[in-house]
Amino acid sequence: MGYKTYWQQESLVIELEQLKNEYSSCEICDLCPKSSGINGVVRSSGPVSSLAIIGEAPGADEDAAGEPFVGRAGKMLDKLLESAKIKRKQAFITNSVKCRPTQNDGKKNRTPTSDECESCRPWLYKELQLVKPKVIITLGKISTESVLALPKNFTLGEYVNKSHETHLRRENSPEIITDMYTIVPCWHPSYLMQHGRKKFDEAVECFKLAKKLVLQ
Ligand code: URA
Repeated sequence: MGYKTYWQQESLVIELEQLKNEYSSCEICDLCPKSSGINGVVRSSGPVSSLAIIGEAPGADEDAAGEPFVGRAGKMLDKLLESAKIKRKQAFITNSVKCRPTQNDGKKNRTPTSDECESCRPWLYKELQLVKPKVIITLGKISTESVLALPKNFTLGEYVNKSHETHLRRENSPEIITDMYTIVPCWHPSYLMQHGRKKFDEAVECFKLAKKLVLQ
């Protein structure tokens, strides 16, 4: 589903690798591995694809593996993909924040701050500009507001399972920096672990909608 041609892939894969090397040595915020003691930057996974999936930030398992969505949330993501008959290797998977945010004890995961999200956003946008996915599934509030301009206290439920067209813009700037993207917001897999079947089914519908839009 939605693979780019071989030649398009080849040059983009090289550029994507270069970009990952660049952000692996980023020291812009306090999450920088050098200052926070975590293992390092969790790079994107998957091919240059027409379907991109954006999560929030890596957790302990992802930090240890250096890959997004390999822990419990990753298993839930796999269930969503499987239910929508999408193969994981067909999607480009990344996070809004590339390093693991931890609580003061350095052990428990925490939600990234808006400053951390803002610091990491140029890397996310550069990834998206290279991959140019036809459709992006955003998992949870953090990743949805990383790409859509939304009111401060927005309710994710109002946006889930609908498609939204957007350009990506620099923070607090009217300047458009990218092409138009189609975004399908969805519940975060970790949220689905605490909420019942109904939310899971809604999330599967988001994945099916994204697939339909990719194939259109
Ligand atoms: N949650 C996320 O948002 N991203 C990951 O990579 C893992 C868990």
